[in-house]
Amino acid sequence: MTENSQLTLNIYLKHINDSLKALTAEKPHLRENIAEAMEYSLMAGGKRLRPVLMMEFCRMCGGNAAEIVDLACSIELIHTFSLIHDDLPCMDDDDYRRGKPSCHKQFGEATALLAGDALNTLAFEVIAEAAMQEKISSQAAVMLVSVLAKAVGVNGMIGGQIIDLAAENRQINIDELDLLQQYKTGALIEAACVMGVIIAGKYDMIPAAAEYADCLGRAFQIVDDILDVTGSFEELGKPIGSDAEQNKSTYVTALGIEGAQKEADRLTESALTVLRQFEDHDFLFELTKDLLHRRS
Ligand code: IPE
Ligand code: IPE
Ligand code: MG
Ligand code: MG
Ligand code: MG
Repeated sequence: MTENSQLTLNIYLKHINDSLKALTAEKPHLRENIAEAMEYSLMAGGKRLRPVLMMEFCRMCGGNAAEIVDLACSIELIHTFSLIHDDLPCMDDDDYRRGKPSCHKQFGEATALLAGDALNTLAFEVIAEAAMQEKISSQAAVMLVSVLAKAVGVNGMIGGQIIDLAAENRQINIDELDLLQQYKTGALIEAACVMGVIIAGKYDMIPAAAEYADCLGRAFQIVDDILDVTGSFEELGKPIGSDAEQNKSTYVTALGIEGAQKEADRLTESALTVLRQFEDHDFLFELTKDLLHRRS
């Protein structure tokens, strides 16, 4: 990525991290523990890909990215909730996340479970609050809630997680795998892009944003599956070999590492082609390419 784009990314990250910190700053009496658990997982790091996508799609569609940081954080709250639950012993049973002990390792299972739940509802509170403060119209808020709720639920991330669990210990075919990933990872990435377009009010660009997200989301999960084999704990901040340990069906088990990498290359090219339909897409063009070769 060029120096200029890196600078832009750093500014985005600063805004997002400040806003996330503020959202969990309050530590109410007798509930300090859960508030700390929420903050712990949110502030442990993370690439912040989803809020960056929301802000960029908003900006490319004529909106003001700096004014929608809180709204962009709504998707990171959901994403972090999904990671806390994903690591639980009843799910992937992983002890580290974002370079630190997983939420349940640090705070216990019950607190981790509830911290995930509370992050989930906080995301929707943030959207409603933006409408109450007249930062967005009520109609826009309803649309955002609708898109986000669908992306989280049975026809979204949660649906994908249940297919993922059911696919342990058996090899599923590539069509099932595509469906699994489309729900598990694709849905939130698509919501991030589409929500950015909705906030900017350029509704005719929703299909293009969704198409870009479909390609990027799949490429992103493929790289995640590859890194589970080829990455290191130091780079990823989460255990490697977790998929094999749980007998997961992944793009690596289906296509092999080389085949999976080729598929990620192809999908990234498709994502870049769709991105050309958006004005002023240079930053996201570079970020999309970089994600293909990411090591974390
Ligand atoms: C990890 O997501 C889980 C997947 C959906 C593949 P990220 O790789 O975006 O995790 P963070 O936010 O950077 O920790
Ligand atoms: C998780 O996929 C996707 C979520 C909905 C959290 P993974 O189980 O592959 O994510 P990591 O590898 O633990 O981050
Ligand atoms: Mg998982
Ligand atoms: Mg996992
Ligand atoms: Mg993984």
